Amino acid sequence: MDLKSFIRDIPDFPKPGILFRDVTTLLRHPQALRYTLDTLAEKVSELSIDYVVGIESRGFIFGTPLADKLTAGFVPVRKPGKLPAAIYAAEYALEYGTDRLEIHQDAFEPGARVLIVDDLIATGGTAKATAQLVQQAGGELVGFGFIVELAGLGGRQQLPSVPITTLVTY
Ligand code: PRP
Ligand code: HPA
Repeated sequence: MDLKSFIRDIPDFPKPGILFRDVTTLLRHPQALRYTLDTLAEKVSELSIDYVVGIESRGFIFGTPLADKLTAGFVPVRKPGKLPAAIYAAEYALEYGTDRLEIHQDAFEPGARVLIVDDLIATGGTAKATAQLVQQAGGELVGFGFIVELAGLGGRQQLPSVPITTLVTY
């Protein structure tokens, strides 16, 4: 299945000059959604994942059903002030701005095998900060999974050297 054909391009969103790759058109298509989740699950299946970490907010959409397919748990990494228990925090740079991400301190048992999932990697700042949070919380980072990679922004070069699975590259 050609997943690229289900992703919509929106020029000048959220700021002039940014070509936004919109996955809502993939999500609303039943067969494309099923194929996306099945393919990602198959590609990471040999990593023996205990927890999928999904990054707010589009990482939640793909990460939770993926965790279910892998018989893994799901752990949210959230934007500031949303998690109720004790947290670790990391600052990160976005393609368009800066922000901060948080994880629960007790998210993992020591050595738990963790896959970080998001809809898209652009500059890699979000995923890199999430990797730091996983390590702080005592997880063993064993891979990353993204639906879309914007390869021209060099995001994967920012990440620790674990397997990176992507389904669509621009
Ligand atoms: C987008 C995307 C990734 C991140 C990628 O999220 O879903 O999380 O940016 O950018 P980077 O690789 O340059 O860090 P956004 O911050 O727009 O939040 P959202 O998922 O809540 O829309
Ligand atoms: N599409 C969706 N999310 C994004 C993008 C994009 O092009 N760039 C950074 N986050």
